[in-house]
Amino acid sequence: MKHLIDPTDLSVQEISDIIALAEDIIANREQYSDACRGKKLATLFYEPSTRTRLSFTAAMMELGGDVLGFADARSSSVSKGETVQDTTRVINCFADIIAMRHRIEGAPLAATEVSRTPIINAGDGSHSHPTQTMTDLLTIKRELGTLNNLTIGFVGDLKYGRTVHSLIKAMARYENTKFVLISPPELALPDYIKREVCDRYGIAYTESNDIESVIGNIDVLYMTRVQQERFTDMAEYERVKDCFILDAKKMRGAKERMAVLHPLPRVNEIAIDVDSDPRAAYFRQVENGKFVRMALILRLLEWQRDESRTTDHGGRFIEGCKCPNPVCISNHEPVRSRFEESQFEPGVIRCVYCETKCN
Ligand code: CP
Repeated sequence: MKHLIDPTDLSVQEISDIIALAEDIIANREQYSDACRGKKLATLFYEPSTRTRLSFTAAMMELGGDVLGFADARSSSVSKGETVQDTTRVINCFADIIAMRHRIEGAPLAATEVSRTPIINAGDGSHSHPTQTMTDLLTIKRELGTLNNLTIGFVGDLKYGRTVHSLIKAMARYENTKFVLISPPELALPDYIKREVCDRYGIAYTESNDIESVIGNIDVLYMTRVQQERFTDMAEYERVKDCFILDAKKMRGAKERMAVLHPLPRVNEIAIDVDSDPRAAYFRQVENGKFVRMALILRLLEWQRDESRTTDHGGRFIEGCKCPNPVCISNHEPVRSRFEESQFEPGVIRCVYCETKCN
């Protein structure tokens, strides 16, 4: 079974194929209006969402299919203690494909262990958000014409920002990618991504604590919100929440051909005077999200019949090993813990569900 849990579940070729399909859907929308007739998508959203849930819904509707699910887990039997895996088994009886968002990291991966239908990770805690990444890749391709030879500046919350983690993993596989990481020290990119992604692919990255000094070298400026909901210490949130604000004055130092992306929602990290700048691509990015999700639904349903395509996150049970991440699914539900040794940090063992270092 092919699922989408992490951007690296898709090869570069599969990503190109999905982007090409999304571009064809944009050009020939009416040709796809019956492509999923008789199929059902379940949207299981255990955490709030506007764009991801509604763009999945709109995507399936535009393909002629139907949508069921919940937008608030409190209105489902989850509130009575039903596990992610049992809920998945139940939804398998009603739907052909599942998009799941969860506050608990690794929950969609746990669902794949029992599912008879494709599972799409629609965002798991601070860990990963691969359909946002597909949205971002389509947007970069449409705005700049290429995914190669780009310098991408990530701004804001690089620690908890799952969209940042996923886009870094995806972009690292393209030619001559460079990253500029712009964050306060408290919200710096997790070390495992620097080691497992940047070092693995030999990606050059620099770190900065201001936008102005680096904006002139950047092709894609990826702004992010400081996510209040991920902080346990509200004083720390108050200290860092307004660290980086992009405004029209700062945009004057940017390249003429540059794209500003933001997964949204924004709070105040992009001033509204940037919205009218032609380089502000974040609302076009939202619409791209619907088209790329249409392409993903089509391909995952098609690949379900192709035995050569599988999603395997590997790992094995290690006696005495426990994931220290309090928001990992292995600490919340009765799943069998799985770990794997890092290829790039000798001796380091990571949890397969959330990639947290366990020794
Ligand atoms: N970008 C994104 O994931 O937005 P939502 O939280 O509104 O789905």
